[in-house]
Amino acid sequence: MPILKELDYGTPAGAGPATVLLRIDGREIEAPEGSSILHAAKLAGVDIPKLCATDRIKEFGSCRLCVVEIDGRKGTPASCTTPVAPGMIVRTQTERVRKLRRNVMELYISDHPLDCLTCSANGDCELQDMAAAVGLREVRYGFDGARHRSHPIDVSNPYFAFEPDKCIVCSRCVRACEEVQGTFALTVDGRGLNSLIAASQNQDFLDSECVSCGACVDVCPTATLNEKTIVQRGLPDRTVITTCAYCGVGCSFKAELQGDQVIRMTPHRDGQANHGHSCVKGRFAWGYASHPDRIKTPLLREKITDPWREATWDEAIAHVAQRFREIQTKYGRASVGAITSSRCTNEETFVLQKLVRAAFGNNNVDTCARVCHSPTGYGLKTAFGTSAGTQDFDSIRESDVILVIGANPTDAHPVFASAMKKRIREGAKLIVIDPRRIDLVDGPHVAAAHHLQLRPGTNVAVINALAHVVLTEGLENRDFIAQRCDAESFARWRAFVTDPANSPEAVAEMCGVPATTLREAARLYANGGNAAIYYGLGVTEHSQGSTMVMGMANLAMATGNLGRNGVGVNPLRGQNNVQGACDMGSFPHEFSGYRHVSDDAVRALMSAAWSVPLDAEPGLRIPNMFDAAIEGTFKGLFVQGEDIAQSDPDLKHVAAGLSAMECIVVNDLFLTETARYAHVFLPGASFLEKDGTFTNAERRISRVRKAIEPLAGLAEWQVTVKLAEALGYHEMRYSHPSEIMDEIARLTPTFAGVSYQKIDELGSVQWPCTAAAPEGTPVMHINGFARGKGYFALTAFVPTEEHTGPRFPLLLTTGRILSQYNVGQQTRRTANVAWHDEDVLELHPHDAEQRGIRDGDLVSLTSRTGSITLRALASDRMQPGVVYTTFHHPETGANVITTEFSDWATSCPEYKVTAVNVRLVKGRSEWQERRLQELDALGGGLTPDVARHPDAAAKSADLPR
Ligand code: SF4
Ligand code: SF4
Ligand code: SF4
Ligand code: FES
Repeated sequence: MPILKELDYGTPAGAGPATVLLRIDGREIEAPEGSSILHAAKLAGVDIPKLCATDRIKEFGSCRLCVVEIDGRKGTPASCTTPVAPGMIVRTQTERVRKLRRNVMELYISDHPLDCLTCSANGDCELQDMAAAVGLREVRYGFDGARHRSHPIDVSNPYFAFEPDKCIVCSRCVRACEEVQGTFALTVDGRGLNSLIAASQNQDFLDSECVSCGACVDVCPTATLNEKTIVQRGLPDRTVITTCAYCGVGCSFKAELQGDQVIRMTPHRDGQANHGHSCVKGRFAWGYASHPDRIKTPLLREKITDPWREATWDEAIAHVAQRFREIQTKYGRASVGAITSSRCTNEETFVLQKLVRAAFGNNNVDTCARVCHSPTGYGLKTAFGTSAGTQDFDSIRESDVILVIGANPTDAHPVFASAMKKRIREGAKLIVIDPRRIDLVDGPHVAAAHHLQLRPGTNVAVINALAHVVLTEGLENRDFIAQRCDAESFARWRAFVTDPANSPEAVAEMCGVPATTLREAARLYANGGNAAIYYGLGVTEHSQGSTMVMGMANLAMATGNLGRNGVGVNPLRGQNNVQGACDMGSFPHEFSGYRHVSDDAVRALMSAAWSVPLDAEPGLRIPNMFDAAIEGTFKGLFVQGEDIAQSDPDLKHVAAGLSAMECIVVNDLFLTETARYAHVFLPGASFLEKDGTFTNAERRISRVRKAIEPLAGLAEWQVTVKLAEALGYHEMRYSHPSEIMDEIARLTPTFAGVSYQKIDELGSVQWPCTAAAPEGTPVMHINGFARGKGYFALTAFVPTEEHTGPRFPLLLTTGRILSQYNVGQQTRRTANVAWHDEDVLELHPHDAEQRGIRDGDLVSLTSRTGSITLRALASDRMQPGVVYTTFHHPETGANVITTEFSDWATSCPEYKVTAVNVRLVKGRSEWQERRLQELDALGGGLTPDVARHPDAAAKSADLPR
């Protein structure tokens, strides 16, 4: 479509339930109660000039450009700050207000550089538009603009520039940073004519508290805050609405292009997950899609020590088909399999699992959700009957208590974190359960009522203690339990959880959380009104990940915090399509819609649709694939969009498994770490190059729309379809991903009503979408649980086998940071390295001092599985005895030291608890030296590693150098 300009109603719509009837310029207008006159006028198509107002933020009333006359009222009130009233008669174009507006504009323009023709915002500038709208013809005060002529342009941020001379001090940016983003990084510094916008303590943007969300840039009416791509390349000429390919928030974006060049990505205001907000990754870090490291031609080699040679698609696909069939002939049908990715679309995931089940003839398909949220699927299905979060994001607007467990939303789910912070600023109480003092605990204008800074590995003991308080103090919701829950399982669980062994006093010392804090947090959760749980990988990536998910579900059921707005149990999914990857049947034991492969009726349905017999035996999980490879029974692996050689635990074991296989096919954007073990590399397509859908953490299915053609010629779904054909399976002929979605809908009850047409009409659809809920289901379990009665599973705490001791006295836990994403394949190829160009080890100042470690020192981090080196950063966000790092950089190899322990139910690795030791060292570990040498040796055109951005040197973490 041509460039999409979204309407700006000037101020947010009124929240009142009633509508108000008024007259504006003779027109009868209906507007929601509480709306401003400016908003009501826009609803009726009447444009009142404005500058300081935009509907993203609250009215402010500073520019006086929007003045109007109202019958029966004195003066000329600002229409942006005057609410509508019944019977009101408003005049927006009287000579009096027109003159006033021209005077205001004269003053603005007299102090603004007159370089419109060469300005990057020429044609997209509200100041310019307003000057025209008010009919400005002369400026009596000259154009000297002396006040604003001497300030340097701040280009420190890699993505946007700040040109103070063009600022009209409307303060939209300041208010957006406060109200929309919740970072409070900007202020108006100085007074009157000398006032200027300042970042933090008058710092440049890069060094300030700014998190580069782009909200200020979006609302700036002039070119003062402007994307560098716009400055360099000019304005875009077409828009494609699509969905961010980074995290599970699933923000809707306008990809804005000039021809086939993406110029910028701006958050879509109609986006139902993000409502026009974004974070630095989705908004700015899309440059990886056209990075020179992108591989655009299929590559082949006989042995992984051979150099790659380029091949045609036909040759490469035929080669893969031949090799996989040879392997199956030699080692058996179950000797090959595939790994799907949460980064791929639903349609790509669906066809890949279909390829495995129908064309490979086994169920050896697994997904990267195995290593993140598989316990969510298991736990929530057991308790409620559905493997998904219960709420939509907007539900948080009605939460009174927010319990964040093992999640760091401001870094990993930033746009949802902004909504959460807003609700907390409005008065909701926050409880954080996390070993680290995450930003939410004491952020700007946000503070946790309780921070339960537990020892890693004690989640289940803590959740049981909270439930113990609820049950023993009579805080449970008896009506809810009686009506909605399974009585027998409740009675059993009640007897278990009220046992004194689960009391706060009994577990406090082991958990590291005072009993009084546990009791107060439990009372707040149970008594504080609508209480909602949001959790992340700090819950699931434990040996008791599934137990903890069920523990949270028990607590929510016991207090009646399910089945309405403001409550629920909500996994914050890490990658963009974790929910979708699980929904699409990419686990080895389940078809799409979480139906077990051993279910004869379901298998018969799928078998008839796919015209092939299907295996009733669950296939191999990812770790079992490596085990089987080492044993010699698993020989061929197709890996789509996943970098298992960096993201999976116990990397030495992973490497041994991969090295033991005879044919590994990697289908990805870049030559990843996993590609080092591959025999075939099939180039992938970025989210900008294909059609499809992603399903976010709130079960919202949103469209991914092709903005440009695939750089390598094919999207992943097309590669899979071609491979099926080459394998002699002909039931995968689709001409467009919409046909794949139609098949998903035909075969998956919870998706029965989903189609591209419906998504296009509604903007997005949250499953279940069925005949009973044709427009989808924002909040689940309203009248009953999907499984009927809610089930209380017993959640006995079983300590992890990973213990600290004299050799490994510290506990390592891992996580993410805002600017990087997962294993960093994408974000490391963007200017986001300006914020984080290496993983660092955070440790408590006391632990650092004991070991003689200072900030920036190289330290070894050793567990019983391996050793790596990285730089240290003393941080009082850590508790003594606990250290923390990220896993965004391959040269760090954080997963070299994580262990083989995993969740008892799902094999999700225990990333969050590894016993380690930390020592000051002089050089890199042997592993890293070898890896760095390998990376150096690779060099040249096919280097899989980081292309360092020039801005990287500007700032790297907070380390002194
Ligand atoms: S930077 Fe832009 S939004 Fe901020 S005060 Fe200046 S003109 Fe307004
Ligand atoms: S980019 Fe976001 S965080 Fe930074 S100043 Fe602007 S609104 Fe604030
Ligand atoms: S919050 Fe997540 S989905 Fe939204 S822009 Fe950021 S990375 Fe993308
Ligand atoms: S838009 Fe109303 S005072 Fe600025």
